[in-house]
Amino acid sequence: MKNIKDLDIRGKKVLIRVDFNVPLDEQGNITDDIRIRSVLPTLNYALDENAAIIICSHLGRPKGQRKPEFSLAPAAKRLSRLIAKEVKLAPDCIGPEVEGLAAALKPGDVLLLENLRFHPEEQANDEKFSRRLAALAEVYINDAFAVAHRAHASVVGIPRFMKERAAGFLLQKEMDYFHRSVSDPTRPLVAIIGGAKVSSKLGALTNLMDRVDKMIIGGAMANTFLKSQGIDVGRSRVEEDLLTTAAELVVKAREKGVKFYLPVDCIVAPEADAKAETKRVTCQEIPAQWMALDIGPASTLLFNEALEDARTIIWNGPMGVFEIDAFSRGTMAMVQAVARSHALTIVGGGDTDVAIHRAGEFDSISYVSTGGGAFLMLMEGKQLPGVEALV
Ligand code: 3PG
Repeated sequence: MKNIKDLDIRGKKVLIRVDFNVPLDEQGNITDDIRIRSVLPTLNYALDENAAIIICSHLGRPKGQRKPEFSLAPAAKRLSRLIAKEVKLAPDCIGPEVEGLAAALKPGDVLLLENLRFHPEEQANDEKFSRRLAALAEVYINDAFAVAHRAHASVVGIPRFMKERAAGFLLQKEMDYFHRSVSDPTRPLVAIIGGAKVSSKLGALTNLMDRVDKMIIGGAMANTFLKSQGIDVGRSRVEEDLLTTAAELVVKAREKGVKFYLPVDCIVAPEADAKAETKRVTCQEIPAQWMALDIGPASTLLFNEALEDARTIIWNGPMGVFEIDAFSRGTMAMVQAVARSHALTIVGGGDTDVAIHRAGEFDSISYVSTGGGAFLMLMEGKQLPGVEALV
């Protein structure tokens, strides 16, 4: 895959697809700007090369309609502060006014196009829409790892109409780290998979089973595995239709020599509520009317031991309902274990990312991916359409 340095962008108009799909509070303030800060190396490089920059992104899911609460105005303001330069926000992403603004750009200027998803053509990967965006610039750079799993116009359509195309530094870095952690890892490679549902991670679990040395399962998805092993998990969340699949995965692990770790104890409560009564029980003792909402201390110890000799760790998904303090200890202990490890540590997925930020351990992890769905797609062993489109 070519990256921005492989192209001659000096003094040219460069269209850069980024993912500024940032969280906003009710007043429209950005609550986490990591996705903006992550593309600064690419933007600064383009500025150093005296390029004129046109940035495009989506924000949220406005369903093809122009909705002011999905405007990229807060991102323009934040970016402007981060690069200490005026960032002009175009009124739209296509149309005569935008074409005029793009044509008038001088080297070193930065223009941010308004939310691509104000047009249904973006998600429909409409050819005419892609051509209009492509016509704004001479070079296309994709630095939007977090949306690289979507075959949308700005991700796979535009590059079809631009010969000069490459990855930005963020996309390159994400792919490099993933390759180092899963395709060509230093062993032992340990995967920690958590979160609510086996169904949403089934592809990843299946693919990783062929690659890892150890697999640790936490979060509500562990209940389905426990039940598949004949353990009564009370009212815990279980995907009944996946019990056979879960049992087959346990057998597959055994056949492949993958050490497979499930929780041995858990924190239970009658409800997933901050005020609910809680207690620690072994997984065999979950009371009939209670549910498992976090892993317990014995599981934490077991998982920590499993991580001790790891040389590479990949983690996706929390160990419990960590949004509620009473059920956050397992996830927070896992953050500490991964942060203190000497292994190459790669973490991906929205919730896991939040837990790491909350613990203040962002800098102790080798790499925290900016992607959720895109990271999962890589874990499933699939190619990202946005990466394939750059070839
Ligand atoms: C994300 O936040 O995962 C990306 O921006 C993709 O957003 P989407 O799931 O709305 O396509």
